Amino acid sequence: MNSAAQMRALRIRPSVPRLRPSQRPFVHPTRQASTAATDARSVATRTKNFVYGTALTLALSFGYLYVTDTRSSIHEWLIVPALRQIYPDGEDAHHAGTKIVKALHSFGLNPRERGDPDAAGDLAVEVFGHTLVNPIGTSAGMDKGADIATPVFELGAGLVEVGAVTPLAQEGNPKPRVFRLPSQNALINRYGFNSEGAETVAMRLRHRVRQFAYHVGLGIDEEAERKVLDGEAGVPPGSLVPGRLLAVQIAKNKTTSEQDIEAVKRDYTACVNQLAKYADIIVVNVSSPNTPGLRALQNVEPLTQLLNSVVQAAQKVDRKTKPAIMVKVSPDEDSEEQVSGICEAVWDSGVDGVIVGNTTKKRPDPIPKGYFLPQEEANLLLEQGGYSGPQMFERTLSLVKKYRKTLDDGPKQLPPLSSKPGLPPVGHSTGDEPDSSIVAKLQSSISPSEALDSVASKLPPASVELHSEASPPPTNIDDLSASAPIVTAKPVSVPARNPAPAPVTAGPRKVIFATGGITNGRQAREILDAGASVAQVYTAIIYGGVGTISRIKEEMREEARNKK
Ligand SMILES: Cc1cc2nc3c(=O)[nH]c(=O)nc-3n(C[C@H](O)[C@H](O)[C@H](O)COP(=O)(O)O)c2cc1C
Repeated sequence: MNSAAQMRALRIRPSVPRLRPSQRPFVHPTRQASTAATDARSVATRTKNFVYGTALTLALSFGYLYVTDTRSSIHEWLIVPALRQIYPDGEDAHHAGTKIVKALHSFGLNPRERGDPDAAGDLAVEVFGHTLVNPIGTSAGMDKGADIATPVFELGAGLVEVGAVTPLAQEGNPKPRVFRLPSQNALINRYGFNSEGAETVAMRLRHRVRQFAYHVGLGIDEEAERKVLDGEAGVPPGSLVPGRLLAVQIAKNKTTSEQDIEAVKRDYTACVNQLAKYADIIVVNVSSPNTPGLRALQNVEPLTQLLNSVVQAAQKVDRKTKPAIMVKVSPDEDSEEQVSGICEAVWDSGVDGVIVGNTTKKRPDPIPKGYFLPQEEANLLLEQGGYSGPQMFERTLSLVKKYRKTLDDGPKQLPPLSSKPGLPPVGHSTGDEPDSSIVAKLQSSISPSEALDSVASKLPPASVELHSEASPPPTNIDDLSASAPIVTAKPVSVPARNPAPAPVTAGPRKVIFATGGITNGRQAREILDAGASVAQVYTAIIYGGVGTISRIKEEMREEARNKK
């Protein structure tokens, strides 16, 4: 073994002295200068990074504040046209928009109205005993499945209507079923109630309530849900936001024949049973033009029966306060007879109000007057379905006036429906033919005053006065259904024949919401002045983006300032 091998075997290290670097190495003067330069450079880099970082943070913060503010013009001028370009089909664009808003909301990045402009109370309105912070609402169809109710409230709406929801899930009509008329800011749709069904939507609304309960520290279980629904959190049980209301719209399934009134009643009451607990207002839709025969339910007799059953079902809702009930009527059934027939059904059933308007089967003239539509859009006018857009405004306004007057006149106290002579049979329609009037004539062969006389002549000599007992003032302002009047016949001693028709104390005034072509603040003001409590918008949002509600409210304020 050589010595190296021996040493390795013995693990002995050769004792060669190590060269240790001296503690203070010699530094060449030029290297010293370069270190100083490096230090200076790193200070400069750090400063630059700080400046860039701060600028980026500020840009992101301002960008976030700008993009998420409903008043930013980027929504109308960039995002809406971009969505139109990316999604040539209107329905695809709608689904994408809903998904984006939902995702952004889950990260707290959704667009919202900043600065609480409604706090001044200048636009506040009374609806069903609630003070709504503003009278602008969204209308049905925008959030059919109640996916984005909370972020839509954050856009500034005083009222959000979700739905229409059918009892069982259904696909709706084949696609394509939404058509844009950009030169008119209008749409034609024939969705035909595509719905996930009442159970799924109810589960979603329940989840929303439980999440809210959790956030306010009530827990997340059934008991927490009950507390919120019973008002213990101090918010309306539907909207979950003070000063705002959530309406849930219900409709029948397509396969349920409108002529089988018992089946129709079952459809609507099934929806009430599932959904009414989570709603401040239940809206009965009998006016979509895209479900065959639906509008025939506006005939006075089936309508009264249907509304009666909905009112009764709503009274049984397992909640301290009951939702208000409204019925949404068509703009195409607008004759005096049709309007007064619908109002009779409203009075007879005790429904709380009417949503005046929906899409129309008619095809209004283009605006501005004399404008020639591009050929492509002119062709689209021939598509079946309901038309919506600014052209409808004047008709909505005149219909609101008609309903306001007829409802304010009070019930006519006609004889019971079953004994009405000469009532024509319920109209029938496929629901698809443009412009056709599908509601059977509502006229009775006797006038209302003759009807009163005829009732009086059949009475015992002591006669009766038709007396209305207005419902007692609501004891709980959250009980939205308390505004429904109770009208009863009560015997009193008055001279036998020709009693002056008793002044009918009609109870609380029926509430009207308006929908159809409302696009700006001036129109919203006009609609409210005509007797509506809420102006609902939909198509204006499709073309104007998420800032539309804030804009309309600002225009209303500006109008008010200019008038002073
Ligand atoms: C794509 C689309 C879907 C709609 N879906 C419903 C619906 O499910 N139920 C309903 O009552 N109205 C529905 N509507 C009608 C709107 O709620 C509203 O009454 C009508 O469009 C008129 O108002 P606007 O001119 O502001 O859009 C729908 C409208 C559109 C454009």
